[in-house]
Amino acid sequence: MSSTRRVVVARRVFPALIDALKQRYEVVDNQSDADLTPEQLTRMLADADGALISGRERIDAALLAGCPRLQVVSNIAVGYNNIDVDACTAAGVAATNTPDVLNEATADHAWALLLAAARRVGESERFLRAGRWKRWEFEMLMGAELHGTTLGIIGMGRIGRAIARRGLGFDMRIVYHNRTRLPAAQENGALWMDAEGVLRTADHVILVVPYSPSTHHLIGAPQLALMKPGAVLVNIARGGVVDDAALIDALRSGRLAAAGLDVFENEPQLNPGFLDLENVVLTPHIASSTRATRNAMARLAIDNMDSVLAGRRPAALLNPPVWETAARAARVTPR
Ligand code: GLV
Repeated sequence: MSSTRRVVVARRVFPALIDALKQRYEVVDNQSDADLTPEQLTRMLADADGALISGRERIDAALLAGCPRLQVVSNIAVGYNNIDVDACTAAGVAATNTPDVLNEATADHAWALLLAAARRVGESERFLRAGRWKRWEFEMLMGAELHGTTLGIIGMGRIGRAIARRGLGFDMRIVYHNRTRLPAAQENGALWMDAEGVLRTADHVILVVPYSPSTHHLIGAPQLALMKPGAVLVNIARGGVVDDAALIDALRSGRLAAAGLDVFENEPQLNPGFLDLENVVLTPHIASSTRATRNAMARLAIDNMDSVLAGRRPAALLNPPVWETAARAARVTPR
């Protein structure tokens, strides 16, 4: 009875894709970019069979208890620290995400931040716009060297590997840390080290790890102190992986040359310390934001939701054990 299923689109997504959804579901389309409170989200999902959510919507046991029909939460993001996956499994709700389709765009953005931070692009532009360029100087706005240096990547999943491939084009030596060492074919010449080794060895470090209690403040003052003087740090992972206050200190003191950041603790609020610094490039969590990639993410999320509601295992299921549970079967009820 898919025509009577009710799905919620919790945040504004391309209207053309949502119009197509309306052909097969009853759709509650929030059409808003505002964050929902947990109460608002629970109310919205109370009678829903499926939900398309962004990484900003928190799904936990308390919410699931108020949504007895819900069969699937489909995250339009690859990171899923907003979803308590175990709570979903216990409740019989499939949780899905959007891996792979955003690898290349996200890797491009990591490089945009690395290049901009190392070569002081933001600072140079502010200098020009302020009318401060009065004469050409030989030693003007000298940046950090990238070509031929050592790039450290912490988190060598699919996005990390896409970043590493780009590094080879810059004749960089790649060192990486990942919980498990990759097979040689996937390493593509990169050298595995423990995280401390990467921080000590690399001239520049890019963070691509998922956020969890075990990666909270993975990079704090002690880790920043291990990095080479003059290094550049890029975070495209999640806010909270870096201790922002400690990073601000390291940037302010000049211990690090620069940082490029797409994610922040407590985003969209920023630690105001960042705003006074010239040597940091800041973007508002947009690493995967190209039209083609955001389209591919939305389409994969819709496909994941469609599959679950049609009784098929979705392409990107985060909690495979849910598929076998009686709790899931109990939720599959006709309207
Ligand atoms: C973006 O941050 C994502 O996880 O897709």
